[in-house]
Amino acid sequence: MATTTIPVQQTPQQDHMPVHGIDHVEFYVGNAAQAAHFFMRAYGFTETAYAGLETGRRDRVSHVLEQGRIRVVLTGTLTGGDEIATHHARHGDGVHKIALSVPDAAAAYENAVAHGARGVQTPHWVEDEHGRVQLSSIETYGDTLHLFVQREGYEGPFLPGFAARGRAPADPDDLLLMAIDHIVGNVELGHMDEWVGYYERVFGMTEMIHFSDEAISTEYSALMSKVVTDGSGRLKFPINEPAEGKRKSQIEEYIDFYRGAGAQHIAMATRDIVRCVAQLRERGVEFLTIPDEYYDDVPERVGEIEEQVEDLRRLGILVDRDDEGYLLQIFTKPIGDRPTVFFEIIERHGARGFGEGNFKALFEAIEREQDRRGNL
Ligand SMILES: [Fe+2]
Repeated sequence: MATTTIPVQQTPQQDHMPVHGIDHVEFYVGNAAQAAHFFMRAYGFTETAYAGLETGRRDRVSHVLEQGRIRVVLTGTLTGGDEIATHHARHGDGVHKIALSVPDAAAAYENAVAHGARGVQTPHWVEDEHGRVQLSSIETYGDTLHLFVQREGYEGPFLPGFAARGRAPADPDDLLLMAIDHIVGNVELGHMDEWVGYYERVFGMTEMIHFSDEAISTEYSALMSKVVTDGSGRLKFPINEPAEGKRKSQIEEYIDFYRGAGAQHIAMATRDIVRCVAQLRERGVEFLTIPDEYYDDVPERVGEIEEQVEDLRRLGILVDRDDEGYLLQIFTKPIGDRPTVFFEIIERHGARGFGEGNFKALFEAIEREQDRRGNL
């Protein structure tokens, strides 16, 4: 058994890097207006705030989209030749900032830098008629940043300079997606431990699980993964690196097309994955195709579950069990032009893992089919 689960320690109150959770994820995209339409129409987000020419911002446009506790910001350049244009030219549409809500953005910055993080924006206050917010930022893998956001008492729709937009968030019962479960980073071969060490040092996180290449290696998709988490479980950051396989690792493909390390997928939690995926499919979201055979041994592999296996089979939802329960998950196709960033939809029933049993089962199922065709 090549998967190891390490008990998560509770973070003590005096933790040097207290973080409330993920504040938002900002994508730099080639066309923020069209990306916003896609997030709303395909994934059911609501636009809640906006900044651009109409609000007095001359260089960039940002659409803020929310669903449940998930907040996504889509930003495009208005002028070209700036950091957004440079990021987009190199990476395509991708995650530029994983913003973390903190009680003190100055202390977070100073602690991070003292523990080896490279600072980008020193702590500074921004304000408008709704109040003020303190921001600072540090580098993480690739060209990705962690932005620290201290927004206590701020009453505007997002950050100073943003105008409210759109209708009030939908009734929670109607929401398809509730919260960000985890955000995965892909890093270059040989760099996984370095980034695990970064999260341990800078954020005081602990390694929760690691998957060796033995656990998730097939002809197609060899990778190594370690997961770091804070004590509360609010932050879970798996870090992948490619592993040697007979074919090109999916992580290597990402790094080739993203032209470096970056955020690979954002997993969003739902309370009813069967209803959620049925609606997303109706709205045109495309998911990875699961061979029918994958479902044949689901009852014996995962035991009793609340859902009908027929529904899972019809919708292509994967299921995995660990010591604490089970989880259901499904992966979208890449959301942009390049085979880089994608989404995962996940529903947990006690399980704290990441579906590692599925990688093996899924890829083995594919390979069995291939074998039958004499193509393995
Ligand atoms: Fe995931």
